[in-house]
Amino acid sequence: MKWFARWAKHKVAEGAVPIHIGIIMDGNGRWAKKRGLPRSAGHRAGANNLKTIAEYCGSIGVKYLTAYAFSTENWKRPKEEVDAIMDLLLQYLRDVDQLAGKNVVVRVIGDRSALSEEINREIDHVWEYTKDNTGLVMNIALNYGSRDELVHGMRVLAERVRRGELAPEDITEQMVSDSLYTAGQPDPDLIIRPSGELRLSNFLLWQGAYSELWFSNTNWPDFTTGQLAEAIAAYQTRSRRFGGV
Ligand code: IPE
Ligand code: IPE
Ligand code: MG
Repeated sequence: MKWFARWAKHKVAEGAVPIHIGIIMDGNGRWAKKRGLPRSAGHRAGANNLKTIAEYCGSIGVKYLTAYAFSTENWKRPKEEVDAIMDLLLQYLRDVDQLAGKNVVVRVIGDRSALSEEINREIDHVWEYTKDNTGLVMNIALNYGSRDELVHGMRVLAERVRRGELAPEDITEQMVSDSLYTAGQPDPDLIIRPSGELRLSNFLLWQGAYSELWFSNTNWPDFTTGQLAEAIAAYQTRSRRFGGV
């Protein structure tokens, strides 16, 4: 079935669409294993699925999509797998004209210092190329870890304290938020994790303080726009109290 035919079937229910959705794109390895394929084939299928899901998000009015592509802990994997993932990400960033055509703004969040020069160049290029678009903002979390992000932000604030520009008692929650890679963006309303794992694995820990969570047993490459619509429908039934009554 063509993507547009698939979409037409998966209308989102009436009601508030989440402004910001985070997705932990997990289960690529298991998807490949089930098919007797190398893990890299799972990562390729997962990267392709992100295009479908991102386009769908844009079409239903989601403003921000943060996709967890590679964590600060994923370097523990065999070099061969890490290299395959980095190659795919490079390819993904190079396919930018497809995304630009969909009016998407592409940003990368995470510690870029450990990424190759080639990937860094591509990240700058994709940002330059898409920054004036007015549709969905897609954050690709690449070498991203929430704890690492918070340490990085705390160092920035500590440096201001050392220079005498800021008193420790004047540090606010807003300043901490502004010191993160997601500065200026709203917190995620909904965080989705496919693949059956029930954890956050160091994803948006500060920003997700009041996110609604939705889990599915489907591996990421098989995760459909229909399931996303289901997650949004579930989100619309939740009562978000933020500590109030
Ligand atoms: C998610 O899929 C992709 C990355 C973490 C880079 P996995 O590779 O973790 O897939 P599983 O969890 O082994 O199935
Ligand atoms: C989380 O998946 C990271 C990404 C999807 C990029 P992992 O597969 O690394 O998480 P754990 O190890 O199961 O917690
Ligand atoms: Mg995994």
